[in-house]
Amino acid sequence: MKDVTKRGVFMQLERLNQILEEALKSIDECETSEDINVVRNKYLSKKSELMSLMSTLGGLSIEEKKELGQKLNQVKSEISKALEIKNQAILEKELNEKLQKEKIDITLPSKNFKSGAKNPFYIIRDEIIDIFLGMGYSLADGPEVEQDLYNFELLNIPQDHPARDMQDSFYINDKLLLRTHTSPVQARVMEKSEGKPIRIICPGKTYRRDDDDATHSHQFAQVEGLLIDKDINIGHLKATLELFLKKMFGEKREVRLVPSFFPFTEPSVEVNISCANCGGKGCPICKDTGWIEILGGGMVHPNVLKMNGYDPEVYSGFAFGIGIERVAMLRYGIDDIRKFYTNDVRFLHQFTKKI
Ligand code: DAH
Repeated sequence: MKDVTKRGVFMQLERLNQILEEALKSIDECETSEDINVVRNKYLSKKSELMSLMSTLGGLSIEEKKELGQKLNQVKSEISKALEIKNQAILEKELNEKLQKEKIDITLPSKNFKSGAKNPFYIIRDEIIDIFLGMGYSLADGPEVEQDLYNFELLNIPQDHPARDMQDSFYINDKLLLRTHTSPVQARVMEKSEGKPIRIICPGKTYRRDDDDATHSHQFAQVEGLLIDKDINIGHLKATLELFLKKMFGEKREVRLVPSFFPFTEPSVEVNISCANCGGKGCPICKDTGWIEILGGGMVHPNVLKMNGYDPEVYSGFAFGIGIERVAMLRYGIDDIRKFYTNDVRFLHQFTKKI
């Protein structure tokens, strides 16, 4: 009986060697983590031959149990170890393959990238701002929903002035309206500056009850300018605007001041530049005059100074208002003001410098 058991143990040890050999071979042949799982299942799961041999240990003598038990454990741990090593190698291989497959070749040409473009309105607005900041002006701001007081009254625009007509202004109630120009910022800045010198520009939106067409828009934009100090005369205004216009339109353009009228300036001027299209000879763009009207300005009216806390005997100043779209249209030869607002990328792309 003992011999039989001994033989049985011997055979089982033999079998274990075979299992180990088979298992190691299968592990060696594994190519994927999936294969590893199949082999692990076959050799180490509860239903595996190895595990069923474990369950026979109970019926053996201590000595046999020890011999067979040790072998069983050794085979099990060798298989586990081999599986672990192979699994690591496979995972590493799989990762490398994945990295290789998903590698980005940054030298490949890119797909056609559709970029946005800066609206020419903003290109010109920023240029205007830059030129005046360069002359020592600072930026001022004011509300678009404005009081009648600032929009008209404090700018010496009397009750019966046509600019107050309901046809021209968007009124919200009898005291509030959408500002019709950026000039109310003059009054607001003077009020805040308490009699001290001023040098500001204010870029901003303005609104008028116009029917939209190629040259009119119910909403447009201006840059207001205001300088107040002692001993300021119209020569300063001319020099300032000449410098601005030559920077904006080129050194060759001539600038002239023509008498005009605004309630808030005295004297008032309209500023012209020589027509770039015909060089002053006359053409349809300048309506055969050789000159193009570009902005309005003048010496701040003594009434405006007084109403806003400045003594006209001590202080004088000049002011001007520039239409941003008008400057942009002339600079780029844009024939329709509505193009600034429709966001057609084919239009916008024409003005962005290619990098
Ligand atoms: N506010 C005027 C307009 O909208 C433009 C203007 C003219 C502004 C003369 C000024 C100025 O400051 O002095 O037409």
